[in-house]
Amino acid sequence: MVRRKRILSGMRPTGRLHLGNLHGALENWIQLQEQYDCFYFVADWHALTTDYATPGEIHSNTWEMILDWLSVGLDPQKCTLFIQSEVKEHSELYLLLGMITPLPWLERNPTYKEQQQQITQKDLATYGFLGYPVLQAADIIIYKANGVPVGKDQLPHVELTREIARRFNFMYNCEVFPIPDALLTEVPVLPGTDGRKMSKSYGNCIFITESPESINEKILRMMTDPQRVRRTDKGDPELSPVFAYHKLYSSQEEIAEVAHGCRTAGIGCIDCKKILIKNVFARLNPIREKRLELEADIDTVREVILAGTDKARRQSVETMREVREVVGLKAQF
Ligand code: TRP
Repeated sequence: MVRRKRILSGMRPTGRLHLGNLHGALENWIQLQEQYDCFYFVADWHALTTDYATPGEIHSNTWEMILDWLSVGLDPQKCTLFIQSEVKEHSELYLLLGMITPLPWLERNPTYKEQQQQITQKDLATYGFLGYPVLQAADIIIYKANGVPVGKDQLPHVELTREIARRFNFMYNCEVFPIPDALLTEVPVLPGTDGRKMSKSYGNCIFITESPESINEKILRMMTDPQRVRRTDKGDPELSPVFAYHKLYSSQEEIAEVAHGCRTAGIGCIDCKKILIKNVFARLNPIREKRLELEADIDTVREVILAGTDKARRQSVETMREVREVVGLKAQF
């Protein structure tokens, strides 16, 4: 039997997920689980590389995120869901990859430099933060993954993973690790309620399982075409974040109707938003209901993750046997 392609991806535990996460990463993950052998995990060790001084929310964020994953339709019958820090083999491979990773590869990593400059309230001049992509490489290749679905921001990390995997195979004259491909998630960035990129740090998010009252209020207050000040002004839908949402949530007819209405001042922003609100509710209500069910049965959720973690561990243990062998660490006892 030919092995189905293996897909692996991870997300740092940021807590409840927002619509940007849903349309950016999760929908893609959900599609992939239909065809491939998918492993998805919570990258809690990666969270610690930046939040080591304030780790208080990592645990609850992990479970909030897992609940959202299951609510939107990641299906443990179809994919393997687990928590990184529960599979200690990642850390052993990370250690061994550290031996062969040239320091300049890490120092010139664009994310490393950018984050150092941007995140000034945390001290990121640490060994752990420099090693972030080595840990990520270990996450990926320990499962012999073929494809890694990620957003653009993660491409340098996948590239580094490929280089590390090649170097390992070359150095130990083996083919333990397939060279993984990045599967770029091509989605338009969903704007936040203020028109900027949706991000928790901007406070402009709509959360996947937020209450209808709160979603209603946020959409009603959402920015529109800034040049359309009065109801009688004509607008340009392409300048309104509300229209970006219509493209995801509304029918072709409705999209055409609100676009025309906006350009001709035939529809007001409130009416346009009301159409959107109806469609967002239709989409998110079942997800919120699923989440309530899961919250009421948290033991089952824990079992699902335990089973996924066991499966991931078996695979990792298998790979580490091969790795130890080729790096000269034969079992001593
Ligand atoms: N660095 C990724 C992010 O911030 C998370 C991550 C950790 C990851 N390990 C991974 C993604 C392995 C893909 C594969 O989004």
